Amino acid sequence: MKSGCSSMVTKLPFSVPEQPPCRTQEIFSHLTDSIDRRERKRPLGLLSNFVSDQLPHCIAEIKASERPDEAVKALGRSINAMIAETDYKAQLLNLPQPEFGVAKTDIQYLVNCAYQMSAFAGLHPVDAELTVGGALRQLARVSCQRQPSIDVLSYEDMILTNPLQSDPRVYCLGSAGVEERDFCLGHLLIESELQSAMDALLEMRDAVGADARQCLAVCVERLEAAVCVLARFNERMSPDLFGQFRVFYGKNPYKDRLGPSGRFSARIVAVSVLLIGEELFHQKPQFYMDIYRLSEYYPQGCIQEVFRWLSPDKGSAGLQPSWLEGKADFPKFATISPVMERHGSEIRKLRASCVCALDRFTRMHRGTALKYTVEPGRPVVGVEASESVEAVLSQRLLTAAHQR
Ligand code: HEM
Repeated sequence: MKSGCSSMVTKLPFSVPEQPPCRTQEIFSHLTDSIDRRERKRPLGLLSNFVSDQLPHCIAEIKASERPDEAVKALGRSINAMIAETDYKAQLLNLPQPEFGVAKTDIQYLVNCAYQMSAFAGLHPVDAELTVGGALRQLARVSCQRQPSIDVLSYEDMILTNPLQSDPRVYCLGSAGVEERDFCLGHLLIESELQSAMDALLEMRDAVGADARQCLAVCVERLEAAVCVLARFNERMSPDLFGQFRVFYGKNPYKDRLGPSGRFSARIVAVSVLLIGEELFHQKPQFYMDIYRLSEYYPQGCIQEVFRWLSPDKGSAGLQPSWLEGKADFPKFATISPVMERHGSEIRKLRASCVCALDRFTRMHRGTALKYTVEPGRPVVGVEASESVEAVLSQRLLTAAHQR
């Protein structure tokens, strides 16, 4: 993949702590067709057991059934009957936070399954709502009240609170289920690299006496690691298996709602703002309009933090700030730019290396998205009808002149 700025990458004169190298190699290895559930995470008891152990089998049966419409309605009825037997609402409200996250994932996996399978079976919207059912809908409402978020399966539910390493929730059986788990795990590995890159940039921006050289060195290292994970997707993920699980993560077929997409990674937004926030504002203001417009789809904790950087006087709020309407200057203190002004050419080169790594990520991602999704004609899940996929996939690419 052409990076366009490899000549600017600075060789680091010191070492940066490495993360275990094996984890990236573990995904998409195609060595097994069963999931090793090393530690069960079942916060909702029988209901969690059902999602983890039974749901993929139920889906396979519906797909093979001669009357998928009747089969999906029967699934909806049995899920709602199971919920009616226990006071899951009280359980949900009393769970400690990490277990609550898994429970919310369980509930949203069920709701999403009911809608996607109803569409597969060709159900009318009224029947699809009956299939989701009152009891499940109420649980979903309670979970979104406890943790404000979009009322459909979110990126956070699928990637960040799904217990992927120990007891993953997936829709497919066999090798497609393993690939589905690895698709999610790959996103999680990238999220962890982005978190480290973000922490390093925040230290540089906020900590008095921070070592800018060390912070940027960590940042470039972590972004390069994220590129390595993405390369693994590009080289190793099976297009056929991807096609099998992708259908479950589409837009909601009955509501005007987008599906869970990497587009809604708040950490990649955070790193982009810290590193190139002002350049993005001048070159790609749409990037900012989109994050405010689609804010509900992002993990709330992190996106609200980014909004606070961008509107320091306003509390938090997801309302579009006045600088985005041209009524004030861009808040450059949200970024590392003011700190950069106090440093010389070595630090400038290091920052350019970080920008290059982020740019490589975006370009490689664009190639991957085209290869697996757009070119084979699979539906995009996180793009609205009024948007162009191309524009979404290029929304954080700067022109080369501004990177220098
Ligand atoms: C094979 C793997 C992947 C495919 C096929 C893919 C596909 C897509 C597609 C089609 C879009 C357009 C919006 C949508 O419909 O969802 C998109 C957007 C996006 N995806 Fe991915 N994606 C993949 C992996 C990842 C990973 C691992 C990340 C990391 C968190 C990620 C982050 C993003 C971001 C940030 C956007 C918004 C556009 C941008 O800034 O480039 N994607 N992706």
